[in-house]
Amino acid sequence: MRHDEIDDVIEIDREAFSRGGTTSAIDVREEAIRPWSRIFVARESRVPVAYLVAWHVADELHLLAIATAMHRRRMGIGRALVQRLVDFAFERDVRHIFLEVRQSNEAAIALYRSFGFYRLGVRAKYYADGEDALEMALALDPPQKQVLLRDDEEA
Ligand SMILES: CC(C)(COP(=O)(O)OP(=O)(O)OC[C@H]1O[C@@H](n2cnc3c(N)ncnc32)[C@H](O)[C@@H]1OP(=O)(O)O)[C@@H](O)C(=O)NCCC(=O)NCCS
Repeated sequence: MRHDEIDDVIEIDREAFSRGGTTSAIDVREEAIRPWSRIFVARESRVPVAYLVAWHVADELHLLAIATAMHRRRMGIGRALVQRLVDFAFERDVRHIFLEVRQSNEAAIALYRSFGFYRLGVRAKYYADGEDALEMALALDPPQKQVLLRDDEEA
């Protein structure tokens, strides 16, 4: 993400995550200055239409948030961003990508599953409104640039 794109990314984040006065998924300005944070932006005609934020620590990535602008959904942009993260993971010898997702978020879960993310467990009442989070992981073999397909772990 370029510095002059912060406002556009904040707008996408608000549109996707603000509901009933609740806050956004992340603080974009904070993430922009954290050394271990990576923000990937998808653009159309140079205008940001989607973003993905992940923390990179040692050989792990933690996907914190991904959102596509409402009017650009279901066009393959979210998939392209996750693919960008997986490519980044291979470049940096990352062995696992972890994330939490609302149990009700069928769109995001379908997206993650299509890459080979599997269920690690459930974090009860993880979100402020009391909804549980599904913990998911993607196992990678960086030398072979391959995703290691794993079964869901039992609840
Ligand atoms: C999840 C999200 C980022 C997907 O972005 P997108 O650009 O629309 O995704 P894509 O067009 O690349 O879709 C990729 C796949 O995701 C799944 N998917 C996306 N939207 C879906 C929906 N509404 N219902 C079911 N599956 C869906 C499908 O498997 C889809 O593949 P397909 O189109 O070949 O069937 C988008 O819906 C979004 O911004 N949601 C709000 C924010 C959010 O919940 N983020 C995730 C938690 S941090």
